[in-house]
Amino acid sequence: MYALLFNLLFRRLDPERAHHLAFGWIRRAARVPVLRTLLAALLAARRPELRTTAFGREMPGPFGLAAGFDKNATGIDGLAMLGFDHVEIGTVTGEPQPGNPAPRLFRLAVDRALINRMGFNNDGSAAVAARLAARAAARRGRPGVTLGVNIGKTKTVPEDTAVADYVTSTERLAAHADYLVVNVSSPNTPGLRNLQATEQLRPLLTAVREAADRTVPGRRVPLLVKIAPDLADEDVDAVADLAVDLGLDGIIATNTTIARDGLGLRTRRDLVESIGAGGLSGAPLKARSLEVLRRLYARVGDRVTLVGVGGVETADDVWERVLAGATLVQGYSAFVYQGPLWCRRVHRGLAARLAASPYATLADAVGADTRKAAA
Ligand SMILES: Cc1cc2nc3c(=O)[nH]c(=O)nc-3n(C[C@H](O)[C@H](O)[C@H](O)COP(=O)(O)O)c2cc1C
Repeated sequence: MYALLFNLLFRRLDPERAHHLAFGWIRRAARVPVLRTLLAALLAARRPELRTTAFGREMPGPFGLAAGFDKNATGIDGLAMLGFDHVEIGTVTGEPQPGNPAPRLFRLAVDRALINRMGFNNDGSAAVAARLAARAAARRGRPGVTLGVNIGKTKTVPEDTAVADYVTSTERLAAHADYLVVNVSSPNTPGLRNLQATEQLRPLLTAVREAADRTVPGRRVPLLVKIAPDLADEDVDAVADLAVDLGLDGIIATNTTIARDGLGLRTRRDLVESIGAGGLSGAPLKARSLEVLRRLYARVGDRVTLVGVGGVETADDVWERVLAGATLVQGYSAFVYQGPLWCRRVHRGLAARLAASPYATLADAVGADTRKAAA
């Protein structure tokens, strides 16, 4: 059904337009209480055996929506209705910004991949904070889906004052976040990924931690960093060591890749080249993201919670990430290709995988393969 809709409609539309169209439908459906209840019952059926605890929160499962889909926090409850166990909004920057000129989102359909150079188009942290405050007021204390807030650097802010920009966003957004992510890994903001170097990352994460503690004194907001798959292995290790040293709560691995070679792309080379710069996501990213996750788990074990993302398409992929060391798993690109039944399929398959495994709970399975490989 979704394949038909995809081929007849979305595939013929510019990918960014298709995104806005589909996201608009999701938001509108979620505003009609009967429809929301019905769709949630169908798509977000809960399986008690998949319950997951991370960052001090109980979630119905480990599978969430990665950052970039809901950059401005306009459709959190609609996305929860589709079955995502957590939703990460953003990336939000200190100041509002338009992002890069269009076209800036491209499909490599035969590879089940996307290339984007959106460039953090978003309303800015003040507007997003106001939106989250309004949502909280409307919910009147009713608990909602676990909400991650992903922050990044405003394009026009120079690298040497980047910390202040992240701190501004933290002050505005931390109170609304179930966890906060410092994004230093998107390829579409010049210089951003330089912040992954530990000499830059240490003061940045320290300042964000302090800002979160200062603005939300009654609660320790969990703090995570999101890294690129293009880091050299020793740089992955350095981030892992820094995370342990700083008492960071989590690492998200990984963002999109700037690589085009060695990914086994089936799309014609000249076509890929004609698209130009941007981060590649989806199936071709699977192997490297998994490799980075394994490396991180081998280094940090249970001391830092790991979130696996990059090329996750199926329940088997989610299970593989869990065995590699991920407590939570996210996806984005496969949502575009698989549509609204995606979470349901993943949850069903994952429950079957767990039942057929020697593990009583998902938590028991976290990192089991990586530990075995090391033994
Ligand atoms: C169109 C698009 C926009 C994205 N925007 C962001 C973003 O703003 N911040 C971020 O941290 N990651 C962003 N990402 C990266 C995803 O969160 C994810 O890390 C990456 O796509 C790999 O997962 P996937 O293979 O399941 O798509 C974006 C990805 C896509 C496809």
